[in-house]
Amino acid sequence: MMPPQASSLAGRVDGLFYTMLGLSVAVVIGVFVTMIVFAVRFRRGRRVDRSGESHRELGIELTWTLVPFAMFLGIFVWSALLWVDMRTPPADATTIYVVGKQWMWEFQHPGGQREIGILHVAQGQPVRLVMTSQDVIHDVSIPAFRVKQDVLPGRYTELWFTPTRPGTYDLYCAEFCGTDHSRMGGAVVVGTPAAHARWLAAHADGSLVDRGRELFTRYGCAGCHADHSSVHAPRLDGLYGSTVPLADGRQVRADERYLHDAITLPAREVAAGYAPLMPSYKGRIGESDILALVAYLKVRGTARETPHASR
Ligand code: CUA
Repeated sequence: MMPPQASSLAGRVDGLFYTMLGLSVAVVIGVFVTMIVFAVRFRRGRRVDRSGESHRELGIELTWTLVPFAMFLGIFVWSALLWVDMRTPPADATTIYVVGKQWMWEFQHPGGQREIGILHVAQGQPVRLVMTSQDVIHDVSIPAFRVKQDVLPGRYTELWFTPTRPGTYDLYCAEFCGTDHSRMGGAVVVGTPAAHARWLAAHADGSLVDRGRELFTRYGCAGCHADHSSVHAPRLDGLYGSTVPLADGRQVRADERYLHDAITLPAREVAAGYAPLMPSYKGRIGESDILALVAYLKVRGTARETPHASR
């Protein structure tokens, strides 16, 4: 009945779920048994004492107040700790970019491998999905991993998991997103580390950074952002991770979200000291190309920038 437990967090999620289910069942049984007993005992026409209790039982009152209090607080602490772990990807996680669009999933591996609908990952290797949508709200749901996360247009959301068992597991879109929502599914194929390495090698097709570098030229970004350009545009070397002062006095961190928005909504966060000359590429560059550009911008000015170094 339940999907298999195939990620490092699945057992912990199930533990919490079944504990809450068990407690709820116990409370429901307690309430209904008491209700039925009272209904039978105090039914109309029955000669019983209906005067009610006149003295307080402090012990009972304290018990039914403090025991549920401790139980609910315990569940809160338990689930909060689990939630923090589910939100914090391990440092060695592989980042895979995901674009949802009506009605398919596109996955891009750091080595340049791209796939539609099916995601290949390795057993035991933590995976961090960085996701965005090209149109409406979608939602990645992988029941066997006990993970689920909305995928929003114009924003990056994240999800991570460590697959523990080789196999093929269902992937669903869990947000109604139009006519073919119910068919916007796919699969996660978990291979042994050796099998996954073979798959990666067989499907290598230029790294994401290489593709981003190529797109940087193709979309004419270099025309303004190159060193020798006559246009006064912000330098991009080493931009990722730095703090950018904006024309309106604010300061923002140049993270993936900032780089994405700088391409699609350049007028919103203009860097201090620069005129708002950058045209918006919203609708002109697909989300998967933007991901490649962002991947390239992340390594610009670093040692990894040399071609093929990121493989
Ligand atoms: Cu995408 Cu439902």
